[in-house]
Amino acid sequence: MEQLINQIAALKASIEAFSEQDAEAYRIKFLGSKGLVKALMGEMKNVAAENKKDAGQLLNEFKIFAEAKYESLKATDTGAAGQQINEADLSLPGDLLPLGSRHPISLVKNRIVSIFQRLGFAVAEGPEVEDDWHNFSALNLPENHPARDMQDTFYIAQNPDWLLRTHTSSVQVREMEKGKLPIRIICPGRVYRNETISARAHCFFHQVEGLYIAENVSFADLKQTLYFFVQEMFGKDVKVRFRPSYFPFTEPSAEMDISCLICGGDGCNVCKHTGWVEILGCGMVHPNVLNNCGIDSNKYTGFAFGMGIERITMLKYQIKDLRLFSENDVRFLRQFTGTI
Ligand code: PHE
Repeated sequence: MEQLINQIAALKASIEAFSEQDAEAYRIKFLGSKGLVKALMGEMKNVAAENKKDAGQLLNEFKIFAEAKYESLKATDTGAAGQQINEADLSLPGDLLPLGSRHPISLVKNRIVSIFQRLGFAVAEGPEVEDDWHNFSALNLPENHPARDMQDTFYIAQNPDWLLRTHTSSVQVREMEKGKLPIRIICPGRVYRNETISARAHCFFHQVEGLYIAENVSFADLKQTLYFFVQEMFGKDVKVRFRPSYFPFTEPSAEMDISCLICGGDGCNVCKHTGWVEILGCGMVHPNVLNNCGIDSNKYTGFAFGMGIERITMLKYQIKDLRLFSENDVRFLRQFTGTI
């Protein structure tokens, strides 16, 4: 018993002598599972039976004393973290956060949109899940029309009338149906086609289509609009040519080529040694389309055009594989910074 009393006295002295302001260090040294107070408690078993009661009381009182010291240290100690803040130089600049960059498709889309906005075109958007009317029938593609095969369509299983839009011409139909003329819109958006994924084709891609309907709109207006676009997008030196083509919703129809940006028209792999690359389809809106949408085709005429954003982006940045756009490889995506 006497030995225990001496031990308690010695430990009490060392607690009183503990001068650090670190509550956690104190806790570990004295109160922790391997601490000195705990070890002293273990002495209980060596105390003779008749002294156990007194010894227990002494130890309990001591434990309360040791814990009180811990509480008072905690109250004054700001802790290790607190001290670090006090010592830190608050005038230092913060760590730089890595900046993200826009997806190349977004960059090019924004650029295309801003060029047409300068010509007075407004942006119109519509649903990606469409009905047959807006994607096909209204556009002079009645059921069983062979030209429907030009665009391999994903249909929605629950309803044979629903599909994933194959082009954003569907948005143009919705706009024409509103009946507010004149119309001058561009329709950027994602479209879907059931194609095998390869370097040159994907089951989804992005388009910007345009539509202008007013009185006396002519093919010359269409050409001039597209000339302006090409020069803004690719520079003044790029040459343009129109080839006759066929789309059910335009008559006459054309495809527009630009001189190859890689070889300047001399011939290379990208232009398949022709010196030209196709970038869009266009034409005068077919009178049937105007009539289908409630517009008087005797009074109004219009032009429409449509281009794939991926294709323009590939030409502009000389990207050879379409799949890069949807693989989310940051080493690829990080290269496109700023605006264009
Ligand atoms: N809708 C056509 C397509 O997706 C593009 C186009 C639009 C062609 C307007 C002519 C006029 O291929």
